Amino acid sequence: MATMESLIGLVNRIQRACTALGDYGGGDQAFSSLWDALPSVAVVGGQSSGKSSVLESIVGRDFLPRGSGIVTRRPLVLQLQKTEDGQQEYAEFGHLPRRRFADFSLVRKEIQDETDRITGKTKQISPVPIHLSIYSPNVVNLTLIDLPGLTKVAVEGQPESIVQDIENMVRTYVEVQGWKPNCIILAISPANQDIATSDAIKLAREVDPSGERTFGVLTKLDLMDKGTNALDVLEGRSYRLQHPWVGIVNRSQAEINKNVDMIAARRKEREYFATSPDYGHLASKMGSEYLAKLLSRHLESVIKARIPSITSLINKSIDELESEMDHLGRPIAVDAGAQLYTILELCRAFDKIFKEHLDGGRPGGDR
Ligand code: GDP
Ligand code: NA
Ligand code: MG
Repeated sequence: MATMESLIGLVNRIQRACTALGDYGGGDQAFSSLWDALPSVAVVGGQSSGKSSVLESIVGRDFLPRGSGIVTRRPLVLQLQKTEDGQQEYAEFGHLPRRRFADFSLVRKEIQDETDRITGKTKQISPVPIHLSIYSPNVVNLTLIDLPGLTKVAVEGQPESIVQDIENMVRTYVEVQGWKPNCIILAISPANQDIATSDAIKLAREVDPSGERTFGVLTKLDLMDKGTNALDVLEGRSYRLQHPWVGIVNRSQAEINKNVDMIAARRKEREYFATSPDYGHLASKMGSEYLAKLLSRHLESVIKARIPSITSLINKSIDELESEMDHLGRPIAVDAGAQLYTILELCRAFDKIFKEHLDGGRPGGDR
């Protein structure tokens, strides 16, 4: 029987194939609806709240540009694809399809260079996303989107409109649009600021008033004033969400500068919660590893709930692809033709796995 893991893996592959096809100017309606039908997680929060750091801890690798000020200046669509144990980890960019990056410091450099290619070496932003896939035995299957941080004022070198431009960009990812299913919001707030002033919560409250698709994440617990704690937030009394709040301790800038690696950082985070007088009783439900599992489980349940609508979309796409291939015949560009064919094959596989899943599966009984 097909596992949920293979199902999400297949969803990811279809998304990637659709993206690649988009690069050939395909941009067909059926593909973009297909893309939109598949759930993803958008990381939202104020500048320097720790968004990129949280994303890195979820992945378990250092590969993102981080730091104070505006560092993330284009959306980064990050697909995590779990591979078989023992396989080497590597990354691949949408704009460099045939190059495998095994050195993750080069991934960081390429994100910076590719950002600059569109925006110049400025503090300007661009809504054109960078697509990155990471293949690793150590990740959970997830699509995450890192976004520029919300700000309140433009700084030197930025146009006055930047505050609104960033907010509009973030909104295109998290707002409900037409029939498009709703993306999951990872709302990041730093614990050393009053939650009432959190940009992430302000936006989440507006676009998801019931809190059903928002996961509240509280970073920088280690930076709170002595004698204070974040229990009111973490236990849901300050701002109630349908999902539990998760507290996080990322690396400080000093630790980043000292090249403290991810394994050491995770160990330190685990110890922080296990030994904390304030949070010890919550330790098993805190930290970035727990957050990654929580998100993956949630994504599975969202996909399961959407199986019927995704299946009908996929069948529609198969029909359209078949007639498109018939019509196009010979003159089609070799690469585009191959991509179309790949998507068609993936859609067929998807349809088959769904059927197996529905026939052979105990409903909801995978875990
Ligand atoms: P972003 O702008 O929201 O993507 O934030 P970054 O992930 O780039 O982090 C901004 C700065 O805050 C960096 O210098 C991080 O080292 C630091 N930082 C993020 N999270 C934490 C945390 O939990 N604890 C501490 N001490 N520093 C953190
Ligand atoms: Na930053
Ligand atoms: Mg960032």
